[in-house]
Amino acid sequence: MDGPSGTGKSTVSRRLATTFGAAYLDTGAMYRAATLAVLRAGLDENSPADEVIAAAVGAKVGSGTDPQAPAIELDGEDVESEIRGGPVTKLVSAVSAYVPVRAALVERQQELIADALREGPGGIVVEGRDIGTVVAPDAGLKVYLTASDEVRAARRHRQDSKAGRATDDATTLADVRRRDRLDSTRAVSPLHAAADAVVIDTDHLSVPGVLEELIRLVTERGLVR
Ligand code: DC
Repeated sequence: MDGPSGTGKSTVSRRLATTFGAAYLDTGAMYRAATLAVLRAGLDENSPADEVIAAAVGAKVGSGTDPQAPAIELDGEDVESEIRGGPVTKLVSAVSAYVPVRAALVERQQELIADALREGPGGIVVEGRDIGTVVAPDAGLKVYLTASDEVRAARRHRQDSKAGRATDDATTLADVRRRDRLDSTRAVSPLHAAADAVVIDTDHLSVPGVLEELIRLVTERGLVR
C-alpha cells in the first residue's frame, strides 16, 4: 500500500490486515524512528550527511506486525507517540532520502515480511512509499492511494488535533506539500505508483468505502487462503 501522507493508508491498511488475519507493517514508522535517533544524537538538517547517515543506520529500530497493536521501538523504548511529533515529521523526508538509510531499512523490512509470511497464514499488509516498486515488487496486490492536497491536509489536521498536537490548516497544508515534494523528487526510490498498481482516489471515498474496494480486490485475486 503506497501513497502520499493523508490518504488514509494507515487506517485502511490496519483494517484490511485485521479483516483477513494478516500481519501489518508500517514502514513510515521505521523511517520516523531512525529520524528520532538522528535527533537524539543532537543532529539536524544542517548536520554533515555522514553523521546523519551513521546515526540513522545504527539506530536499533524494532517494529511489531500486529495490526491491532502496531509497536515501534527505538533501543527497546516505545516511541510511537514521539515519532508523530513536529521535529521528526519535519526531518524525516531528508533522512529517508539517504541511500544507505534506505538500504538498511529496506533490508530490515524485507526480513520482517519474510518472517510474517513464514509464521502466519494470513499474509501481510505493508504500507509506505516504495513498497510496490522496491520493497515487495512481487506483491500479490499493489495499491496506490491518492487524494487532493486539501483533503490530505484536512485529514492530517484532524489526526493532529485528536492526538493533541497543535496545528493550523495553512501550516498543515504547507507541510503536506513540502513532504510530498521531497518524497516524490528524491533520487532513490521516489514516491510513485508501481506500473501494476491499482490506483484508488480517496477524495470522495470514506474509510469503509476504500476498505470495501480493497476486500473486493484481495478476494478477486485469490489472495485469501
Ligand atoms: O507514512 P509516514 O508519513 O509515517 O512516513 C514518514 C516519512 O517516511 C515519509 O515522509 C517518507 C518516508 N518513507 C519512505 O521514504 N519510504 C517508505 N516506505 C515509508 C516512508
